[in-house]
Amino acid sequence: MTKRKAVTKAVIPAAGLGTRFLPATKAMPKEMLPVVDRPAIQYVVEEAVRSGLTDLLMITGRNKRALEDHFDREPGLERALQLKGDTARLAEVEYASQLGPIHYVRQGEAKGLGHAVLCAKRHVGDEPFAVLLGDDLIDEADTLLATMMEVQQETGGSVIALMEVEPAAISAYGCGDITAIEGKDFVRVNSLVEKPAASVAPSNLAVIGRYVLHPAVFGVLENTAPGRGNEIQLTDALQTLAGGEGEGSGVYGVVFKGRRYDTGDRLSYLKAVITLASERVEFGEDLKTWLKGFVN
Ligand code: G1P
Repeated sequence: MTKRKAVTKAVIPAAGLGTRFLPATKAMPKEMLPVVDRPAIQYVVEEAVRSGLTDLLMITGRNKRALEDHFDREPGLERALQLKGDTARLAEVEYASQLGPIHYVRQGEAKGLGHAVLCAKRHVGDEPFAVLLGDDLIDEADTLLATMMEVQQETGGSVIALMEVEPAAISAYGCGDITAIEGKDFVRVNSLVEKPAASVAPSNLAVIGRYVLHPAVFGVLENTAPGRGNEIQLTDALQTLAGGEGEGSGVYGVVFKGRRYDTGDRLSYLKAVITLASERVEFGEDLKTWLKGFVN
C-alpha cells in the first residue's frame, strides 16, 4: 500500500452573513461574537492547532476584516499592556496572534458551504484536509478531529462527524444513513441528505461541523448543482462520494458522544456561553450560585 498523504491543512469557512444574530452582526462578523472572553472563532482555530494541523486557511468575505485583525499582532495594545505590567492580558493578546500563520481567501458570493470549501481548492491541492465550521465548538477534552484524521488515514476516503439529535431537530442538519463496520469504531456512510424533514429523515444522526475530506471532493463540488436553499451543499458532494467508486470515494462517520456547543443561533449560543463560563475557575462557582438564585 502506498503511504497516504498526512492531513496538515485546516479549512475554516467564515464567510456566512450571520443573519440569525442581526443587528449584532450588521457591522461585525458573527465569528467574533464573544464566548466568555474569546471570540467563537478562536476556539475553532485553537482546536485545529491542538489537533496537529499546521496550515490554516480561513474562507472569509466582505466585512470580515476583524477576523484578520484578531489573529494578527497589535503592537500598540501589546505595548500599552506591557507598560501597565498587565502580563496576563498581554499573554492572551499575544497568544491569539501566535496560533497562525493563517491564510485567507475570500468567497466573493454567498453560494453555500460547498462553494466555500471549493474556494480552498488551490490552497489545499491534492491532499486530504480538515474542515471546521465555526458554529460548532467541540469541548477541549475531546479529540474528535484527531480521531477523524486517523479514520481518514485508515480508509483513504472522507470522514464526517455525526451526533445523535432529537428526531425533530434533524431538519436543521445534514443527516446520514449508516452501517456499522464490524470491529471498527467508525461507520460506513451509505447516503446523506441535507436538512431533511423529520418525517423522511433516514436517521437521527446529524452531521456536525467537522470533516476530514479527500481532495476528490473538489472535483465533485465543481459539478454539484445548487441544492437546498439554492446553495451548493457540501452534503450533496459527500453524497456523491459516498455512492461513488474509485479514487477518493467512500465516506465514513465518527459518531461523536462528547460535548458540543452550538453557537449558531441565539438560544444555543447563550447556553454555550453559560456552560463554558460556568467552567471558568475565576468565576464559574459564583456564576452557578447566582444562576440557582436567579432561576428560583
Ligand atoms: C451546515 C451543513 C449541515 C451540517 C451543519 C452543522 O449547515 O450544511 O449539513 O449539519 O452545518 O452545523 P448550516 O448550519 O451551515 O446551515
